[in-house]
Amino acid sequence: MQDELRAMATAARHDIAAAVSVDELRDTEVRYLGRKGQLTGILRSLSSLPSELRPVLGGAANALRAELEAAIADRQADLAAADRTRALLVDRVDVTLPGTGYAVGRPHPLMRVWDELESIFLGMGFDVVEGNEVETDFFNFEALNVPKDHPARDMQDSFYLAEDIVLRTQTSPVQIRMMRQMAPKLPVRLVHLGRVYRRGDDDMTHSPMFHQMEGLLVDKGIGLNHLKGVLLEFARRFYGPGTNVRMRPSYFPFTEPSAEVDVTCAWCHGKGCRVCKGTGWVEILGSGMVHPNVLRHGGYDPDVVTGFAFGMGLDRQAQLRFAIDHVRLMYANDYRMLRQL
Ligand code: DAH
Repeated sequence: MQDELRAMATAARHDIAAAVSVDELRDTEVRYLGRKGQLTGILRSLSSLPSELRPVLGGAANALRAELEAAIADRQADLAAADRTRALLVDRVDVTLPGTGYAVGRPHPLMRVWDELESIFLGMGFDVVEGNEVETDFFNFEALNVPKDHPARDMQDSFYLAEDIVLRTQTSPVQIRMMRQMAPKLPVRLVHLGRVYRRGDDDMTHSPMFHQMEGLLVDKGIGLNHLKGVLLEFARRFYGPGTNVRMRPSYFPFTEPSAEVDVTCAWCHGKGCRVCKGTGWVEILGSGMVHPNVLRHGGYDPDVVTGFAFGMGLDRQAQLRFAIDHVRLMYANDYRMLRQL
């Protein structure tokens, strides 16, 4: 049995040294020291030996077990370190390589203008309200003081869905709908942003579908001065603090008096450039004092209250802000174009 022990010691030392992986080492350990291992077998069989042999063989076997356990622990540490080194080599990351860019989505230029306008007017105490894209002839024209034979109906050549049902040509019908909803409460102070539709317009700066913002303020004692104050404050928040506004007399059926409103050209700061055609001013909206007939259609008494209104095209603002030269590019949603903005 002593020979057997010696042979086993030699084989075990060799096997431990020869194990090339942690797994292989574990197999070796099981083979010698496991519950059914060779050395364990010898230790068990000691009890069947004559008592004078037991201490000698037992001591030798226990010493061998201690030696093998220590050798396995050493080898295990070496192999684990080697595994780590190998993993570090194989999985090495070169942190100096350029990264892979992720394509991140972002709001459409039009929606950026839309959101900004809403937050400016919310900040000035206006409510943001909803409206209908499909309107009756009454709300789109009649109640806004545009009778059947009015020339303005040619200017706003409409898509009719049925007799007396149109795709709204302007956001102004929201004025009537909201006044009727609120009357007789004061003040009425709202903006509405949305799509409008007109036939025939389709060129560099016009599309048959486009977007407008409508504003309305009705209260006792409202004058043109309030209109100008609100527009100036808006223009400075939207185009920058150095912006000025000027009002030019104009005509709209639903306002009296009416004014077209220009702002200092944001591109050349009023010096004159291609965008403002050398004038230093860019027209941005139509406005005026709400016509008495419109107030009446909204359920308010024009002898008691007055109001101002304004209407602005959003698409042109987005085009100017983001230098988009063709309005249709805004709706084509070509990713190559959108990602430049
Ligand atoms: N609705 C007009 C248009 O589509 C714009 C407009 C002008 C709206 C004057 C108004 C206003 O509220 O007072 O061209």
